[in-house]
Amino acid sequence: MLSSRTIEIIKSTAPVLEEHGTTITKHFYKTMFAAHPELLNLFNHANQSQGRQQTALANVVYAAALHIDKLESILPVVKQIAHKHRSLGVKADQYPIVGKYLLGAIKDVLGDAATDDILGAWAEAYGIIANVFIQVEEGMYEHAEKQDGGWAGFRAFRVARKVAESDVVTSFYLVPADGGALAAFEPGQYISVRLDIPGEANTHIRQYSLSDAPGKPYYRISVKREDALPGKPAGKVSSYLHAQVEEGDALHLSAPAGEFVLDLTDTRPLVLISGGVGLTPMVSMLKAAAEAQPGREITFIHAARSGAAHALRQEAEEVAANGPHVSAHWCYSRPSASDRETGAFHKEGYVDLFWLQQVVPTTEASFYFCGPTAFMRTVYAALRAWGIGEERMRFEFFGPSGSLLGA
Ligand code: HEM
Repeated sequence: MLSSRTIEIIKSTAPVLEEHGTTITKHFYKTMFAAHPELLNLFNHANQSQGRQQTALANVVYAAALHIDKLESILPVVKQIAHKHRSLGVKADQYPIVGKYLLGAIKDVLGDAATDDILGAWAEAYGIIANVFIQVEEGMYEHAEKQDGGWAGFRAFRVARKVAESDVVTSFYLVPADGGALAAFEPGQYISVRLDIPGEANTHIRQYSLSDAPGKPYYRISVKREDALPGKPAGKVSSYLHAQVEEGDALHLSAPAGEFVLDLTDTRPLVLISGGVGLTPMVSMLKAAAEAQPGREITFIHAARSGAAHALRQEAEEVAANGPHVSAHWCYSRPSASDRETGAFHKEGYVDLFWLQQVVPTTEASFYFCGPTAFMRTVYAALRAWGIGEERMRFEFFGPSGSLLGA
């Protein structure tokens, strides 16, 4: 246990560190990667270069430090991150490395203000936080390995089918290369894909939601090709998967992970709202719920740019056509002339409260939503304005978790 003096130092210095958080973590990554270039195989370089990961790690360290005397209160956050760490293959012996360079960065950035007392207190606090992560992750590794069809680390899969779902999304149907069993998963979970791209110095790891219902003889991921935008280069991994990976090729996957999952014990009406490629876990949830809970009222709402960018539409419509209590609604921000001619969408523009109130039959529902940050903020604000409590919302950000509030 930490002494009350140490806790006092942590609490009084956490705001100072938070203020310098991004500078500290940027410095931390720079020095850590210089000393341990092998860790570049683990981290997402696109997130790094956009500075998104820096803020995510800093926020959690400071939040954890502020709750250092009651860490159980941040356990849900720890578990969500631990799922990602387990999916990536983060190991216990890497925590002291992160600790060493994080403390070194605090020292370098704060200069004389970082007294021995302060550094000692943070070293102790980091040790405690790291141990919580290590223990939670150990349990997850054990579970991943021991469940039927489960495995530890990365396992070779073969691309059994590759299907273009829209002009930007392509599905890959993946079966174990060893012909062995496939671990069960919960709708909403994701897997990590590890790729060696020719000409690249490091391996790349990315997470993709499983986009089909559980219980099939394959895993399916549906990958959006991240084309270059002003100030943002094209996604290396998604471009490679789209252009180079073909049926018969091998991909290496870690076992399903994640806590953004459908609660099948819940019988309240279900509302699934997705934006862009955020629809992938939602399609899995839609199919699983319609199959397991045929009497449950399900509203499936999807926002896409246009019909050409709208993936898995037919699949969702089939579920709606076959399920007496399932309805599907499409919102296009930039419909094409042919979308207009064919009446392919129900709303033009963006999802808003007024439209949600038209298509969602009751506020007494459970709401799941997933998509890009701006979309998530809009949906969250609309639901809050409608009086929906957080306890009936579940959501997942694609990319490093952002904040639901803010600009
Ligand atoms: C992701 C926190 C230790 C490797 C993350 C995220 C957070 C975080 C908040 C973002 C999760 C998300 O996007 O949902 C922490 C904390 C640590 C810690 C508080 C220490 C107590 C480690 C260690 C490693 C590691 C020891 C391995 C060297 C990673 C990687 C990612 C990640 C590779 C994915 C980031 C990306 O590439 O986008 N961690 N982490 N972390 N963490 Fe940690």
